[in-house]
Amino acid sequence: MPNFQSDAFVFFGATGDLAYKQIFPSLQGLIREGLNMPIIGVAKSGWSLDQLRARAKDSLEKHGGVDQNAFKKLTELLRYVDGDYADAATFSNVRKELGSAKQPTHYLAIPPSLFGTVAQGLAKSGCGDHARVVVEKPFGHDLASAQELNRTIQQYFPEERIYRIDHYLGKEPVQNILYTRFANPIFEPIWNRNYVRSIQITMAEKFGVQDRGRFYDETGALRDVVQNHMLQVLANLTMDPPTGEDHEAVRDEKASLLKAIHPLTPECVVRGQYNGYRNVPGVAAGSTVETFIAIKLFIDTWRWAGVPIFIRAGKELPVVATEVVVEFKRPPRETFSELVPSTSSHMRLRVSPDISIALGVRVKIPGERMVGSDVELMLKRQAAGDEPPYQRLLGDAMRGVGELFARQDLVEAQWRAVQPILSNVAPLYTYEPDTWGPKEAHQLIGNYGPWIDPQTPAEK
Ligand code: BG6
Repeated sequence: MPNFQSDAFVFFGATGDLAYKQIFPSLQGLIREGLNMPIIGVAKSGWSLDQLRARAKDSLEKHGGVDQNAFKKLTELLRYVDGDYADAATFSNVRKELGSAKQPTHYLAIPPSLFGTVAQGLAKSGCGDHARVVVEKPFGHDLASAQELNRTIQQYFPEERIYRIDHYLGKEPVQNILYTRFANPIFEPIWNRNYVRSIQITMAEKFGVQDRGRFYDETGALRDVVQNHMLQVLANLTMDPPTGEDHEAVRDEKASLLKAIHPLTPECVVRGQYNGYRNVPGVAAGSTVETFIAIKLFIDTWRWAGVPIFIRAGKELPVVATEVVVEFKRPPRETFSELVPSTSSHMRLRVSPDISIALGVRVKIPGERMVGSDVELMLKRQAAGDEPPYQRLLGDAMRGVGELFARQDLVEAQWRAVQPILSNVAPLYTYEPDTWGPKEAHQLIGNYGPWIDPQTPAEK
């Protein structure tokens, strides 16, 4: 769906890691979709345009492959402005490169401490006129800093022209949660406290913090993936159906859901750190930052009151997978006098690495006795080949479509929910790599357990 309203794309942080891993591959994809406008990279690296082109080629070779035609077009469209973000001359150079463009999209793929400086530079130089601005996560460090960041950016850009990225929202299977729920009449009547016993969401990563020690040690698992990605997945899973045709309808419903999350308490949190984390370059010697977190939360609405929701996320776990399990209640009495496990009926929605949806049910074992076993009815589709999240999101920003971006009230509601547990209020336990985190996480889930560990696709 081309229809790009923007007529130039500017990305700050052009020589950085995010550009290398995500932005160049997305731009190549967007060019295939029909993108044809100046693409201006900005950074302070002392590079030339040819160096940036070489970096783009290298990026594509490592991330998704080079499409010769699209890459040729990318090199023609690419411009480079080198300079300090605090220097007005940098922005006059961007302005020159923009030429006759009247509605550029500026993407700030830079640390949040620089958002204000760049937003101001854009506004003062005229580059910000009629422009959209896309900001990368993390959006703040806590509620107060997120509010402050909003105030700063909103001095220069109105809310409807600010696009806050949470790349989970650009993922096909995350949208698929909403689609499956609201495109099938069988789920909505049972999607509430009367039928749902508990919900589990697991985001497991088999690798450690790699070369991001410094960033991660100021962030931790709660801020890195739970406050944003996991709460957005939760919102898609538990929000009410959007009403009306208004283009803000989905975000409005998400906002009311996120605002209804009961602020977390320290007893509902288990924090872990994998053995070896403190040896990662950039990590403080005695760091108490968590690389694993498990939380229990509640949503204060008629639909969800009293239903415990368990979320866990961690690095160096046994697999890479993100999965949601909605556990249904058992019938009010077991008709066949069986001892049935409390976790025998569920819906499982796999978000990554593949998309799958499975319904856990009990079926009779053939024979004279009325006894059964648990089976899963599987609806499965491989995610491979789907549009990468950044391509979808950057394309949407250029098209002026904001639905898959985090609005200010959503971001603030997410911070408000986790605010009481931000300052390492819960003890930290060590766990061994390749395990499912500290054993205390099992105590947290208690009778609602066990945690359902996602399996890798090959194990299915
Ligand atoms: C990022 C986090 O936002 O999301 C990373 O900073 C994490 O720590 C990544 O690894 C996970 O994203 P994905 O798309 O690979 O599940």
